[in-house]
Amino acid sequence: MDRVKTGIEGLDEMLNGGIPKNRHVTLYGGPGTGKTSFAFEYIYKGAQQGEAGVYISLEETAEDIISNMKTTFPMFEDVEKLINSKKMEIIKPDTLGLDGVAGILEDRILSNKIKRVVIDSLTIMKMTSGVDEYRPMLFEFLSLLRGLDCTSMTTLEASKINKETVEYDIEHFVMDGIINLYNLDRKDKRIRALEIFKLRGTNHSRDLVPFKVTPSGIKVYTGEKVF
Ligand SMILES: Nc1ncnc2c1ncn2[C@@H]1O[C@H](COP(=O)(O)OP(=O)(O)OP(=O)(O)O)[C@@H](O)[C@H]1O
Ligand SMILES: [Mg+2]
Repeated sequence: MDRVKTGIEGLDEMLNGGIPKNRHVTLYGGPGTGKTSFAFEYIYKGAQQGEAGVYISLEETAEDIISNMKTTFPMFEDVEKLINSKKMEIIKPDTLGLDGVAGILEDRILSNKIKRVVIDSLTIMKMTSGVDEYRPMLFEFLSLLRGLDCTSMTTLEASKINKETVEYDIEHFVMDGIINLYNLDRKDKRIRALEIFKLRGTNHSRDLVPFKVTPSGIKVYTGEKVF
């Protein structure tokens, strides 16, 4: 199985080499758990290696994403250069529905040989469709992505997430892979941790491990325990 390396330190090791090519993985987490940072680094690291990527932001403007990420990751110095050379594109579509976003992706993938796609967030797209039509639409959308020969990362907002009582949404069943991001409550602070909850067709780490958002990128501390 071919793998796409996320480029995020420690994460590829946990994924047994990377995300299986042409599959989709969701970053599932509460507010501020690092969903946007993970997704941005995935596109950035791909762009650096010459793999073009598109980041679809459904809520924040492209300018806001770039400005926030430049502050979060000051050592990603070539972001502007990669954007100017179209190795990475950050788009805020006028439309929020699955159909509209699919159209934008098809266009970009055909014209710019995009290999990596991010949708931040699926939760916003979900709000635009009825309950009954969402699951088949999402399934169709994900099949389309796979058919377009790109490996995607989406974000999904968890309104309630703790390790003991995860409530399952439709996406948990439809997605190829799910990475849970936690902001664990400790006595006098919160600790960031993640686990690979599901990844179809491959072995992967089942550990809950700590991670940090640092100026040079996210660091996942594989093999370390969360205290
Ligand atoms: N330079 C930095 N160093 C350490 N932590 C940072 C830095 N910049 C941002 N952060 C942390 O990252 C968090 C935001 O991460 P991010 O925007 O990726 O989360 P998110 O899950 O996308 O949030 P939301 O649900 O609001 O979209 C901030 O709340 C802050 O704690
Ligand atoms: Mg975000």
